[in-house]
Amino acid sequence: MALCIGIDVGTSAVKVVVADEAETILAEREAPLPISRPGPNASEQDPEEGWRAVAGVLDGLAEQSPRMMSGVRAIGLSGQMHGAVLLGSDLAPLRPAMLWNDGRSAPQARMLRERFPELPGMVGVPAMPGFTGPKIPWLVENEPGLVERIRVVMLPKDYVRLKLTGEVATDMSDAAGTWWLDEARRAWSPEAAAATGLPFATLPPLLESPDPAGQVRPELAARWGMRAGVVVAAGAGDAAAGAVGIGAIRDGDAFLSLGTSAQLFVSTAEYRPAPEQAVHAFCHAAPGLWFQMGAMLNGASCLAFVAGLVGASIETLLAEVEAEGPRPSDVVFLPYLTGERTPHDDADARGVLLGMTPATTRADLARAVLEGVAFSFADARDALASGGTKLADAAVIGGGARSALWVQILADVLGIRLRRYRGGAKGPAFGAARLARMAFDRLPASAVAVPPAVLDEFEPATALAEAYGRGLERYRATYRALSGAGVFARRA
Ligand code: XUL
Repeated sequence: MALCIGIDVGTSAVKVVVADEAETILAEREAPLPISRPGPNASEQDPEEGWRAVAGVLDGLAEQSPRMMSGVRAIGLSGQMHGAVLLGSDLAPLRPAMLWNDGRSAPQARMLRERFPELPGMVGVPAMPGFTGPKIPWLVENEPGLVERIRVVMLPKDYVRLKLTGEVATDMSDAAGTWWLDEARRAWSPEAAAATGLPFATLPPLLESPDPAGQVRPELAARWGMRAGVVVAAGAGDAAAGAVGIGAIRDGDAFLSLGTSAQLFVSTAEYRPAPEQAVHAFCHAAPGLWFQMGAMLNGASCLAFVAGLVGASIETLLAEVEAEGPRPSDVVFLPYLTGERTPHDDADARGVLLGMTPATTRADLARAVLEGVAFSFADARDALASGGTKLADAAVIGGGARSALWVQILADVLGIRLRRYRGGAKGPAFGAARLARMAFDRLPASAVAVPPAVLDEFEPATALAEAYGRGLERYRATYRALSGAGVFARRA
């Protein structure tokens, strides 16, 4: 039996699944990853941490299930997008990776937008501080001498591949989020690299996501009890890997991903840039396909944040909200704890709770969070609509999708039917296991990336539509007013 491993190198954890040919999950493991925040708007992670976590999980699996590990034939990788993994001449990291939610390069992103207005149409997005490209001029200004020492730039999951196989490479869907890829041509853009001051030769070879990209090093295969020649697929950015996991590989297939961050993702048959509303138009993990995405920086992490503040578990809070039944929230929550990308492109925006009274309870705050995150999806829906993409229905994946209550609120706010799939919370790691399967069996995406069984569906409650519409207006007016008054502008 040929088993496949899917590894998602996430932001707060590494997730690993082992699947057999029938896609039964034989093992599922998670290891936490630390993030450091060494200053305002800063978010960093040492690429070595990701590798150590992956190796630790595979060591554990080898110890607990040696027979299973001897059946592994391929590994697929998924990972948090946009992080700048900068390697020096010895292929070791020159510094911790500045991550997707690191907002420090906002001034450099602004400079790129002003000086190179023609590039967003080619690289799929306006320059925003989360992307890899704008981090280079930030480093030039703030860490003189570092950029000259870069031998290779890669994304966080690519560093795990390097350690697993010794190969330097990235895949099209993760390259898509760097701001250096010519999305239509599926090739690096010399113009975009030059605009950011990155030497073109530091960009790694590009592969399509299901392509084989090396084999597990013999010493690691021996350490984990794997046979020689285990193939490692090129893999994908976590958004596109999630799409492969639920079979969203046809034009118009849409889903909401509710993890640490949140995305509204729609597969598109052509490259359809719509940079005005901070829509991301990127290469898909399925060769020959693209996607449009609204990317929000704060998803289920907002609920964990409020749970921590009020000292209750997420489960307790959800049960308390559920006990009161469906109703619009009196409290407004803006989820911009780490700034926002779609639609505001505002690294300095911050979280807001507004409208509390002495009677406000912790359940009211939790309800406001569920609703506020749903409103951020409504903003993304409208951003995509202005780029010509209209949603009829969508799937929901990610940790937040475990809450039926949250999914119902999302359906009510968005006014569309939502469905959950069996195993949908596993998302990108499962998609990565599917990419491994494609690399090993040389099968096309259409043969492997099929939708899993539907778990349940959520119809929008029309009775609440009007009240949620008013809530959405209040939510938008709150951001407009605070932002317009300069409340979010950073103090020196
Ligand atoms: C997508 C994005 C995040 C990261 C982390 O544009 O920034 O989803 O990929 O998961």
